[in-house]
Amino acid sequence: MSKQNQMKIDILKSKVEKALSLNGQTMDRLQAICDLLEREILHYDWVGFYFKNGDKNELKLAQYTGEETEHTIIPFGKGICGQVAVSNKNFVVQDVSAQENYISCGWKVKSEIVIPIFVNDENVGQIDIDSHTANVFTADDEELLEFVCKKVAEIL
Ligand code: SME
Repeated sequence: MSKQNQMKIDILKSKVEKALSLNGQTMDRLQAICDLLEREILHYDWVGFYFKNGDKNELKLAQYTGEETEHTIIPFGKGICGQVAVSNKNFVVQDVSAQENYISCGWKVKSEIVIPIFVNDENVGQIDIDSHTANVFTADDEELLEFVCKKVAEIL
């Protein structure tokens, strides 16, 4: 990774830490993270958190920034998000049109990245980012978002 990219990531990480350290309810801090990432990173067009819905095998949308979505409940296994709920692995989709198991949140979305959130080794939810640009996500995004998920896990 270039020094310049590493610097950008480091600055974003410190902004994330600052946003999470502010006093307030968990939901307000999660909203601040969505707003921050969507504002600061040009290729992030929708940023949201999904969490396991109680003891049901489904995800429920929590805070998000971007266009409203009708996909507020996603069964485990369905779409990119539902697959991450069962695989426990990052899922980077550079071209959503090439995915069979995909839930569309609008024709503008071209690529997507989903990173799971673990609390005590349990997959409790995820951060989901949509982009209007294809082939845009890199290892830098995974590094930043894994950091975000680790920090978010600490306040859940
Ligand atoms: N595209 C996701 C659904 C959630 S929206 O992106 C907000 C999926 O396939 O799981």
